[in-house]
Amino acid sequence: HYVDKGNYRHFMQKEIYEQPEVIGHTLGAFVDMTTGETRIPLGAELDFTGVRRMAISACGTGFYAGMVGRYYFERYGRIACDLDVASEFRYRESPLSDVDLSLFISQSGETADTLASLRYAKAEGLKTAAVVNVAGSTIAREADAALPTLAGPEIGVASTKAFTCQLTALAALSVRAGVQRGVLSSAQEQELTRALAEAPRMVNAALHVEPQIEALAREMATYRHALFLGRGFSFPLAMEGALKLKEISYIHAEGYAAGELKHGPIALIDETMPVVVVAPFDRVFEKTVSNMQEVAARGGRIVLFTDERGAEAGKGVSAQTILLPEMPEILTPIVYSVPLQLLAYHTAVQMGTDVDQPRNLAKSVTVE
Ligand code: G6P
Repeated sequence: HYVDKGNYRHFMQKEIYEQPEVIGHTLGAFVDMTTGETRIPLGAELDFTGVRRMAISACGTGFYAGMVGRYYFERYGRIACDLDVASEFRYRESPLSDVDLSLFISQSGETADTLASLRYAKAEGLKTAAVVNVAGSTIAREADAALPTLAGPEIGVASTKAFTCQLTALAALSVRAGVQRGVLSSAQEQELTRALAEAPRMVNAALHVEPQIEALAREMATYRHALFLGRGFSFPLAMEGALKLKEISYIHAEGYAAGELKHGPIALIDETMPVVVVAPFDRVFEKTVSNMQEVAARGGRIVLFTDERGAEAGKGVSAQTILLPEMPEILTPIVYSVPLQLLAYHTAVQMGTDVDQPRNLAKSVTVE
């Protein structure tokens, strides 16, 4: 199919802007919006009732979606999750006897290592499910349960809308799991799905920080390295934010759990190292503030992505704050993805790189 860029300069930018709509579509597959009940999408069969341990694997951005998925399933479904990049899972020979379900995440549904991992899990007798964006792809066909993200065709090599749709699907699935396993009441389910229903509006609000991010990107483009920090739900986002930046701007970037700062990356901090901190005002926020103080004391330049309460609490520590609306915890990974995508995008535009087709990368890696 021929997909047009429309009025956008790059496919990536267009895909970033499509997110409110495609997240809404994806949510509709997993939540009955009239009753507020979660559901398994039509055509798929999946029951979490007896699932106590899950093994998640994927590659690239899908892996970071899986990392958020682990936080979701552990928090809302009370299911223990193993997590691997697919190239490790397939060879790791982990004892799988207590794994009740293996879950794969893939935009294309054709990634060689993810497909091989799926086949390996099946051969080991595991039940398999896959969150896939391309219906009819090999992974969608071969998984016992194919769970669709409805992001539509993604052309930009760096994944954006597929990622946030994966997060949306995983969030809703984890709530489904919690309900089926009897750890979430129907009132809690309603509260969580009401929160999820706000995702398109919140993502739209996050898109409004673009002018500030553009200014920030002009500065980011002058650096050679960047560090991204986050805790809890924001740790995978720090990883994904760093991946996005390095993929398309070629600036060396690393994502770290904020608590690991003093176990290594702090040695790198000086005025030439910008530190992007992803920290909504959540249950681990205060811990992250003390990490920011450690960075500031060493001359590191902090850019804080947070909300109003976070900005208040982080005052005086961060050089710059990008403000997002306050929102329920379940939404933060989805919404905080947006400014990270915009930061990578505008930095790459500043650098003059080929945003949609960065060097050495392929949209779909079908060889090992
Ligand atoms: C490539 C792409 C990434 C993608 C990864 C996994 O590296 O450049 O954007 O996240 O493959 O692809 P999949 O289609 O399995 O999600």
